[in-house]
Amino acid sequence: MIMEPWESSSRLGASGRTLPGRAGGKMPSGITGFPRPARPGWVPAPSGHVMRRTLPRLVTLSALLKWGVERLGGMKRLEVEVLLSECLGCNRSLLALELEKEVTADHLEQFVGWIDRRAQGEPMAYIRGKKEFWSLDFYVDRRVLIPRPETELLVEQALSSMIKSEAVNVADIGTGSGVLGIALAKERKGWNFVAVDSSKEALEVAAQNAQSHGVADRIEFREGDLCAPLQNRRGNFDLVVANLPYIPRSDLEGLSVDVKNYEPLQALDGGADGLELIFRLVQEARSCLQSRGWLLLEIGLGQVSVVIGRMKQLGFREVHSREDLQGIPRIVWGQIV
Ligand SMILES: C[S@@+](CC[C@H](N)C(=O)[O-])C[C@H]1O[C@@H](n2cnc3c(N)ncnc32)[C@H](O)[C@@H]1O
Repeated sequence: MIMEPWESSSRLGASGRTLPGRAGGKMPSGITGFPRPARPGWVPAPSGHVMRRTLPRLVTLSALLKWGVERLGGMKRLEVEVLLSECLGCNRSLLALELEKEVTADHLEQFVGWIDRRAQGEPMAYIRGKKEFWSLDFYVDRRVLIPRPETELLVEQALSSMIKSEAVNVADIGTGSGVLGIALAKERKGWNFVAVDSSKEALEVAAQNAQSHGVADRIEFREGDLCAPLQNRRGNFDLVVANLPYIPRSDLEGLSVDVKNYEPLQALDGGADGLELIFRLVQEARSCLQSRGWLLLEIGLGQVSVVIGRMKQLGFREVHSREDLQGIPRIVWGQIV
């Protein structure tokens, strides 16, 4: 049984979880009922009201760390430290110096809620509300896919010498949290962007990120299916970049809990063979791109030869691929002539 951080003796609540008491194991007085909705850190009272878990006024950081590690497992110590330091608004390296410092009831309640969420499998990025990409912090929540490090390869490739001109029009298709367009906009002040997503909710997150990174004036957000929202800009783009869903539908069930239970299905499901959207985009991008414009795509495991084949078949030249750090061909690009 995992003891709550403020406990020295065990007591089981109705749910089988140990309920918190004051340090020293003495049951605190003053449990009060509140007619409030349930949320982490609150337990239902028999009356149907929600009864606040009585939190001790003072608990030390070392007790909280120990409890968190026991709750999540020893392999997750780093995550526990990250969540605790984030909760306290301090640098993780400072935790070790302040182990006997006491935290307030508010911090305690927030930390316990976060650890509960993590214990259920929620990804760290959603709990923290942020994910680093291209050395920039992006706001993320369950409306968007959590950006993956391998997607940075698309940014690297787009910034390579393949695009010569200074003033460049870019379409970011399936923008999600906006990472691709925003990272490129930060790097190239003369580039302008249209970012498309079929999810209105994802576009809200992307727009928020563009605002916080100071590039909102150069990124226009449009809702819709692939290149359909770009009808009035046909033949206008120098680069179409996309990280579309590419997981075969039959593989979705086998994904890890943190992905399949939390990340949006719309950001994962690539159709029957995983290639439905990518193949459609290869077809549609031709009319968006100007002559000698580039299409740059992220792809999934085992998809490289068919995607290259389709691009060549549909008129792309200079078609190449590049592997990620695991040796998996992860991006493909080609030029329309
Ligand atoms: C794999 S996520 C990538 C998000 C972001 N570009 C990244 O790299 O982190 C794919 C995104 O494509 C969007 N999407 C799925 N189907 C789409 C479609 N038919 N047209 C436009 N966007 C689509 C999803 O909503 C999701 O935001």
